[in-house]
Amino acid sequence: MKTLAFRLAAAALLASAAAFPTVAQTPAAKASAAARDVAHERLWLGSAWYPEQWPESAWEEDLRLMQGHGANVVRIGEYAWSRMEPTEGQYEMDWLVRAVRLAGKYGMKVVIGTPTDTPPAWMTQKYPDTLQIDGNGKRLGHGGRRQFSISSQRYRQFAQIIVTKMAEAVKNEPNVIGWQIGNEPTDESYDPEARAAWVAWLKQRYGTLDKLNEAWTTAYWSQTYTDWEQVPFNTDKANPGWMLELKRFVTSQWRAFHRNQLDAIRAVIGDKQFITINFGGLGWANRFDRYEMNRDLDVTSWDDYVGMGHLKAYRNGATHDLVRGWKRQNFWVMETQPGFVNWAPVSNMLYPGETRALAWQSVGHGADAVLYWQWRNALNGQETMHGSIVGPDGRPLPIYSEVQQIGRDFAKASAALKGTTPISPVAILQDYPSRWAIDFQLHHKDYDQIETLLDYYQPLKDALGAVDMVEAAEAPLARYRLVVAPSLNVITDEMAKRLTDYVQGGGHLILGPRSGMKDEYNRLDTVRQPGPLATLLGGQVEQYYALDEEISVGSGKASIWAELLSTSAPDTQVLLRYGKANGWLDGKPAVISRKVGKGRITYVGALVDDAVMKGLMDTALGDAGVVRDFGVPADVELMTREGNGKRIVILVNHGREAREVALPSAMTDILGSGKVRKVSLAPEGVAVLQR
Ligand code: GAL
Repeated sequence: MKTLAFRLAAAALLASAAAFPTVAQTPAAKASAAARDVAHERLWLGSAWYPEQWPESAWEEDLRLMQGHGANVVRIGEYAWSRMEPTEGQYEMDWLVRAVRLAGKYGMKVVIGTPTDTPPAWMTQKYPDTLQIDGNGKRLGHGGRRQFSISSQRYRQFAQIIVTKMAEAVKNEPNVIGWQIGNEPTDESYDPEARAAWVAWLKQRYGTLDKLNEAWTTAYWSQTYTDWEQVPFNTDKANPGWMLELKRFVTSQWRAFHRNQLDAIRAVIGDKQFITINFGGLGWANRFDRYEMNRDLDVTSWDDYVGMGHLKAYRNGATHDLVRGWKRQNFWVMETQPGFVNWAPVSNMLYPGETRALAWQSVGHGADAVLYWQWRNALNGQETMHGSIVGPDGRPLPIYSEVQQIGRDFAKASAALKGTTPISPVAILQDYPSRWAIDFQLHHKDYDQIETLLDYYQPLKDALGAVDMVEAAEAPLARYRLVVAPSLNVITDEMAKRLTDYVQGGGHLILGPRSGMKDEYNRLDTVRQPGPLATLLGGQVEQYYALDEEISVGSGKASIWAELLSTSAPDTQVLLRYGKANGWLDGKPAVISRKVGKGRITYVGALVDDAVMKGLMDTALGDAGVVRDFGVPADVELMTREGNGKRIVILVNHGREAREVALPSAMTDILGSGKVRKVSLAPEGVAVLQR
């Protein structure tokens, strides 16, 4: 058990942390429900359009062709700072207003992107202090993008002014429905202002150096700090407690950077338009905490790029589910590839139909918008080779007709999908502190938390069609029959209480390996894994082992990681044991489970093979009384969206062979016509059905 002194110290730390929220601001003003609902009122289809790169005489034809493929939205402006403020303090917004109005003439709604990813050259020249210093101490220069420092107060001021001018220019334009702040937040800065902010943040969070020293166990290697300025600020590998806090600090800097723009825009536009951030193409990226960043937004969005090769259906689908969980609502795919990209080792074209399959997979997982990057290739610049919908001549490329097909599909299915979202009885818990904590101390080079999560996801997705992925620390759990935490390494006392309440309330919690090892400060818990849940489980991890060879478990195999489990309560059952293993594990418990009232808690101590995992998940679903909807052949993905009394089934054939799907009952074929009992899906084929 933890000592009283330890608990008191932890409680004091918790109290001091709670007293200092990471962003000391009032909650962000939100769009009205009506403005937010616009984002979800229909299926949106469109692309990123850069009118600033073309003579105005070309705009109308661009828009006519967009309308011709069924587009109803464009994103404008996100890199156009030098066009909007050609010299310091001289603002030119007329062209933007003209572009917005012309788009309106062709039935296009507009999302305005703020241009803060690409500051103008005059700023770089005159105010080098606005530039980022990277983790190696190098100051960035002009010519690329994202060279700014998120911590520069001067840069934030410039950003605030330009977005205010933009908002003033378009606030009354009826076809502007939303805003995107910046584009794809990525790198933080290590400049002197950032350092000062780091020290201020630490002081606010800890109050005294004694608390900080204790939380990070700085007696280790003479790390004890006697002056705040001694605390390191760089990207070197260091104390894991320090590393976790640096991530939280970076998150708070990003959040404040965006809030600066968000508050300025909101002050001008009122609650008429929604505000989003495009979190970019790496859904699983973890430079900062996406849940925190999303708290201020009305809608979330990301970029769904395949890159090299072809769509990896489970991984891509799970990424959509992750994104849907950021705000626990439907989302926008702000960018996706019209066939191919320019940045992959091999930037191959998707198969005919695959771009459409990709769009429908997005919708099946909760996207209400699909926008292509980009509409038309610029004549020069870093991305001239990227896929687009029309060529540099302004004429449709071969992919245009496939995008046109998507336009026809969306027009047919939009009304049926309105008000629906994937709904699942099962949730997978995700959490950035745990992601970071494990990655900092991998212990086995092949321990991949995303792959581990996908191991659980795959059988659940196959069985259910929809799986939620939600934030461990915040998401309400009561409505789930089964909650799976594949790698919940950091379990705070508060989180432990939530999970305990869930189990005691009748839910089934499954914990994967490495769970409950660390506290909020990335300190080892003095109770063995799963730490604060060990008593509830009636068992614990005696020892963990990084595996250099496959071992046997149940009727299958485990690799990479295995833990030796023990039971301490008489009613804790051993569900699986290791067979011939590494000697230490031979015959020992690998999976244990305990019934708690109507609920249950299960601990899986190893990374097991697909068959063993399927067995575990099927048993768990059976115990939880969750029944399979209907079966589909290999390569066919079943997705479901529900709401407003409607139940929509989306089927996509990700394979290279035609497939037939027998339906459990007659359903309305939304993209075809009438009621059907079975559907035939060509390779990359799609069916949208209403039950
Ligand atoms: C995105 C970015 C776009 C464009 C695109 C190319 O990450 O937001 O501006 O660069 O990649 O695939």
